[in-house]
Amino acid sequence: MNVQLDPYAKTEKNTVDQFRSDILNGLQNMPKKLSSKYFYDKTGDHLFQKIMAMPSYYLTRCELDIFKNKTDELIELLIPGNEPFDLIELGAGDAMKSSYLLEQLIKKEFNFTYMPIDISGNILSILHEKLSSRFPEMKITCLEGDYFEMLQKAASLSDRRKVVMFLGSNIGNMTPEEAEVFCLHLNKNLSPKDRVLIGFDLKKNPHIILDAYNDKEGITAAFNLNLLTRINHELGGNFDLTQFQHYQTYDPVTGACRSFLVSLTGQQVTIGDIVISFEENELIDMEISQKFSPERIRELGEKSGFSITGEIRDSKKWFLDTIWQAK
Ligand code: AVJ
Repeated sequence: MNVQLDPYAKTEKNTVDQFRSDILNGLQNMPKKLSSKYFYDKTGDHLFQKIMAMPSYYLTRCELDIFKNKTDELIELLIPGNEPFDLIELGAGDAMKSSYLLEQLIKKEFNFTYMPIDISGNILSILHEKLSSRFPEMKITCLEGDYFEMLQKAASLSDRRKVVMFLGSNIGNMTPEEAEVFCLHLNKNLSPKDRVLIGFDLKKNPHIILDAYNDKEGITAAFNLNLLTRINHELGGNFDLTQFQHYQTYDPVTGACRSFLVSLTGQQVTIGDIVISFEENELIDMEISQKFSPERIRELGEKSGFSITGEIRDSKKWFLDTIWQAK
């Protein structure tokens, strides 16, 4: 087997240093905080796959419904006219949803280059291999690195119109303030007439939302607890996983769906030679999965300097892909 294809095979030193300092800084917060962007090691990826397969986790199926069944509508809103363009995807992963769009674009003979951006070069090389065998005629340029640095790189590679996709309610993992900064920054990195497609999970019956993040099988709990395991393995920690419990909340007023880990006892944990004390019932703030109203999404687009081109919802009206244009 080619070890180069294992996206977890090599961990750079500065990546580990960044991980350690983010974790230690977060644990100095009040309340203690760990970033959900670190959930995705090999076990975390696997657990997220299991989450996506849970009947209660509706998000993936909703956005897939849009990409499978409303592809023509998507194309109409994303691509005006016939000029060549670059289709950029932030955090493309396995491009499961976007491949329905790619397929249709090729069928309709659009002139475009697909540019997936990811921080993992190994994930990109797997994606490149997969896509070039499925769509041999498609032009693919993989961009490895930070989202905004790679957006600038893409702009320097060609002056074609850019169409940028950020799917899967990944924007929900930002606080509302962080999401505003992100969209403003996105706008600043684009040229007039460029377009973006962002996937937002909508507010809905609060039971449905809570059920998606609070499964009885404990998969979401394991997904959260796995970050403690990762800290144990990669940073020499000694978290006792039996002494932490997952707790999920959803506030239907603000739309914030949050996960916490609760310390079940007063305890001390060490990470390397750093000692961290927990009181009984002390919380670690783990993740936010923000839910939006359609009005709030439009407001976010306008506030960050875009004009609203259109929006597409799935058949249940639980998820919304919005399309904005830079002015
Ligand atoms: C991958 C960020 C879209 O917030 O819904 C799933 C991650 N967390 N279950 C989400 C997640 C708990 C997911 N995103």
